[in-house]
Amino acid sequence: MSEPRQILVTSALPYANGSIHLGHMLEYIQTDMWVRFQKLRGNQCIYVCADDAHGSAIMLRAEKEGITPEQLIANVQAEHAGDFADFLVDFDNFHSTHSDENRELSSMIYSRLRDAGHIATRSVTQYFDPEKGMFLADRFIKGTCPKCAAEDQYGDNCEKCGATYAPTELKDPKSAISGATPVLRDSQHFFFKLPDFQAMLQQWTRSGTLQDAVANKLAEWLDSGLQEWDISRDAPYFGFEIPGEPGKYFYVWLDAPIGYMASFKNLCARRPELDFDAFWNKDSKAELYHFIGKDIVNFHALFWPAMLEGAGLRKPTAVNVHGYLTVNGAKMSKSRGTFIKARTYLDHLQPEYLRYYYAAKLGRGVDDLDLNLEDFVQKVNSDLVGKVVNIASRCAGFIHKGNDGVMVAGDAAPELTEAFIAAAPSIADAYEGRDFGRAMREIMALADRANAWIADKAPWSLAKQEGKQDEVQAICAQGINLFRQLVIFLKPVLPLLAADAEAFLNVAPLAWNDHLSRLENHQLNPFKALMSRIELAKVEAMVAASKEDLLAAEAAAPAGNGELAKDPLSAEIEFDTFAAVDLRVALIVKAEAVPGADKLLQLTLDIGDERRNVFSGIKSAYPDPSKLEGRLTMMVANLKPRKMRFGVSEGMVMAAGPGGEEIYLLSPDSGAKPGQRIK
Ligand code: 2FM
Ligand code: ZN
Repeated sequence: MSEPRQILVTSALPYANGSIHLGHMLEYIQTDMWVRFQKLRGNQCIYVCADDAHGSAIMLRAEKEGITPEQLIANVQAEHAGDFADFLVDFDNFHSTHSDENRELSSMIYSRLRDAGHIATRSVTQYFDPEKGMFLADRFIKGTCPKCAAEDQYGDNCEKCGATYAPTELKDPKSAISGATPVLRDSQHFFFKLPDFQAMLQQWTRSGTLQDAVANKLAEWLDSGLQEWDISRDAPYFGFEIPGEPGKYFYVWLDAPIGYMASFKNLCARRPELDFDAFWNKDSKAELYHFIGKDIVNFHALFWPAMLEGAGLRKPTAVNVHGYLTVNGAKMSKSRGTFIKARTYLDHLQPEYLRYYYAAKLGRGVDDLDLNLEDFVQKVNSDLVGKVVNIASRCAGFIHKGNDGVMVAGDAAPELTEAFIAAAPSIADAYEGRDFGRAMREIMALADRANAWIADKAPWSLAKQEGKQDEVQAICAQGINLFRQLVIFLKPVLPLLAADAEAFLNVAPLAWNDHLSRLENHQLNPFKALMSRIELAKVEAMVAASKEDLLAAEAAAPAGNGELAKDPLSAEIEFDTFAAVDLRVALIVKAEAVPGADKLLQLTLDIGDERRNVFSGIKSAYPDPSKLEGRLTMMVANLKPRKMRFGVSEGMVMAAGPGGEEIYLLSPDSGAKPGQRIK
């Protein structure tokens, strides 16, 4: 056996201001399967990740929720960690970029770059929001397109005509944060001199570190000449202050990849056998792999290796890039219910179904992967339940009934045992090369052979015949041995199934090389169903719940789509705008759950001269809606009626709080009468 490899693996760090969805999961599941494969092979493989906690989006979101950024990132980190754990994504460490380790490492890397002459400074003129007192990133500026005059377009491109431009070219620019007219202001910025690394990158990107398609894309940038990269942002900003430069912060993308190192460093403090420097020194023998989506290639395959090189550290062994997830052939869509959050999936379906489906469809390329929900049901049921689990369920009963659960010795089908052993190197090779689809096809071809052999031997018929008991036992023991080999091959993808199978097989956790051995004269534990079929109804319920996530969000904020631009934090409005809102005292006459909707309540409101039907996303705080009946609240009575899946909503009730259990319906003092206008 060759020496175990030392491997450090990362997945992209999710932003700490949003939920994980099935698009994210494609990456984490893919990485986790690869890591589990390496561990199964006996390599030292460490998988680290973290929340990407910095940046103005997080700062503004926290402000909007009335909490500190630290509270926001702590809340989100708990949610993310729960989602990953429940999808069986087994990080060795899940840290945060807002950590001491990351502050130290960012400062160290920056200082080394600066001392080596790779940092430039110069003044930059940018839009500044005079009310909010902050410089505005392009996406926080809106105005009229300079090309086609479409209104309400973002600061860098027009959604109407597709034009790209500088924010200064926008007509009638407005801050999307406060609504104020921005002014131009100068500020000193810090730049990483990426062109210093042109030659190194030209070589590095072509040295087997990237898939060809990715290297070709990068060559376009490299050939047209690299630009210096602005790595600083002005206060107020949620991030790390640049050492020695008060009021200047590292741009979130500077310290994000350093967060990989920081998470590993944090782990090293708990795992004394891990030597941080041995993984990161320039001459490190350890391997380093980043798994990322194709949208962030420039950060990982240009800026990051250049930063590492400039700071005298090792560069990644490879950056593994994957495509996007589509659902039913199209971009994930909130209104179609195909924008599916990790938690919504988990509320309805088992994690291993999706892990297997992703594995079956993942290749080594950067093509998009389609989660076709009908195919998903069909494939999982046919392969996992119909082929793999079926082998064990067909054989176990006979061994328990006929031989007290003891597998007899002897190989009833040496040609199959040999074929399974012979297939292992190719399956391992597919896993190693991230061609999970090929690995799954080869494993399923073996499962087909095992099933065909058992069907041919038909132990169920032999069991009814006199004197055939030995033959039945030999066939079924062989069936279980083949099943055991398949479980080993599938273990990186299906860790729970493997654990349940190990319990049934009555064996210690299986490693890759265990596929070379057999169980003989071995006592089994009672057989329990290892996996049940996916019911289409569950998938439909998941899609319905995803639509409802959207409806609940809309019901909570019908004026906008949750984006800052349409929901200014502190924009002033004219008195007339305020006066146009018909706010009324409303009596809740009836409050009931909406069948098929987890988050909505249907309220019947009495506003004096009429009754209104309102759907409101407040069920999480009022699990027993009847308690609301008879209570007074306040409603916006002249909101345009909205057609929802469950009916028409004719207004909106007013509530405060961040959401979940913390939603507080507003009430007037006692004495107020239904229908009274609020002024
Ligand atoms: O694109 C993203 O979601 C980023 N938060 C990924 C960061 S990956 C790494 F560089 F930190
Ligand atoms: Zn335009």
